[in-house]
Amino acid sequence: MKTQVAIIGAGPAGMLLSEMLHQRGIESVVIEQRSREHVLSRIRAGVLEQTTVDVLRSNGLGERMDREGHPHDGMKIVWSGKEGFFIDVRRHVGKRFMAYGQTSIQEDLFAACDRRGGVVLTEAEDVRLVDIDTKRPRVMFRRRGEEVRLDCDFIAGCDGFHGVSRKAIPPSVLREFEKVYPFGWLGVLSETPPLPDIVYANHPRGFALASMRSPQLSRYYLQVPLDTHIDDWSDERFWDELKQRYPRELADAIVTGPSIEKSIAPLRSFVAEPMRHGRMFLAGDAAHIVPPTGAKGLNLAVSDVFYLSRALAAFYGNGSPNLLDRYSDMALRRVWSAVRTSWYLTNLLHRFPGSSEFDQRAQESELHYLQTSIHAQAALAEQYAGLDFEAAVDRVSAEDDATAIAVAAR
Ligand code: APR
Ligand code: PHB
Repeated sequence: MKTQVAIIGAGPAGMLLSEMLHQRGIESVVIEQRSREHVLSRIRAGVLEQTTVDVLRSNGLGERMDREGHPHDGMKIVWSGKEGFFIDVRRHVGKRFMAYGQTSIQEDLFAACDRRGGVVLTEAEDVRLVDIDTKRPRVMFRRRGEEVRLDCDFIAGCDGFHGVSRKAIPPSVLREFEKVYPFGWLGVLSETPPLPDIVYANHPRGFALASMRSPQLSRYYLQVPLDTHIDDWSDERFWDELKQRYPRELADAIVTGPSIEKSIAPLRSFVAEPMRHGRMFLAGDAAHIVPPTGAKGLNLAVSDVFYLSRALAAFYGNGSPNLLDRYSDMALRRVWSAVRTSWYLTNLLHRFPGSSEFDQRAQESELHYLQTSIHAQAALAEQYAGLDFEAAVDRVSAEDDATAIAVAAR
């Protein structure tokens, strides 16, 4: 088989890349190790930044999102059981958010792919990336008992944190940065009306979060120790604990009901650099993980794909490799900004086991500062909203020009 771009992984990063490339006249094949049903069954975050909403809309993926999603302007922080404050992102930076589940985005992406007859090879086994630092890379895998070889111009590694693409970068080139947090999130999805705002709670019993998927679907989380067993958490225990972590008025407003999904996720920050080796480019969770505080994971996957599709379109359009050469640096600037923001919010809002009274006072002082300073709120609003995409300025040729002028002057 032969294609222009071989995409490993049919998560949101891989499927969106294939859609955006198709719309720019570039052919791709997606190779996924699991079944489509498995990919569609994963429940993940669901808060989309303005930039993500814009990318989805401008690529024909906004119709259902605009019909079913819930636009909102910011988020609330409450602490120590007291009434909290609202970070009004729309007021400070003019951007909004959309509550729309990743599961729905994944459905929309498969539907769009089916409409255009796109190729997604699911249940591929033993996927291998070969000769990625040459002009003729290829992907080898087994499918339905047969060995398949896919020749391509480029490989996009969109295969998540546990995928094979990142591991194809030689250890002498790859740098990894990691932070593991000493707790997890216990999440519940329930068919109950959510609170009107997303509300983050810092409480002596631990962090809690109230979020939403739609007017009849709520998502809640509790900070729990890493050794927590899900079987120990009946719905009743979950709701009781959740309400204890919110101030009275909000606790009374939470509508409880049977959970339709319950899971525990550990919290981790991880970044791999560079996001490119030869003709292989990483995008999404394959290159970086953020703790869920701030809901940046999916948004980062979308921004990587935005930069990568633009760079590939430039390459196939006018032969210029400059944006491809700048892809890793450009994507990583936005990645580190989100990594920093989600690390900051994680530190601000959780109770860390073994923290000292000094740490506790410093955290409270930070919350107090945020509550009382419009400048602090504006700064958080800007980071929570996510950075704008960088313009496609061809800095490489600008630098070349500057060098040429300097040489001529000598
Ligand atoms: N070969 C082929 N496919 C693979 C392989 C492999 N060796 N390893 C993993 N995959 C597939 C997974 O089965 C999964 O479907 O790659 C896909 C990766 O998808 P995601 O993990 O959803 O990652 P990504 O598309 O980058 O999306 C990032 O998802 O995990 C959340 O918080 C994250 O919201 C963010 C978003
Ligand atoms: C979610 O809705 O799942 C969600 C919302 C906000 C976060 C994290 C997750 O910070």
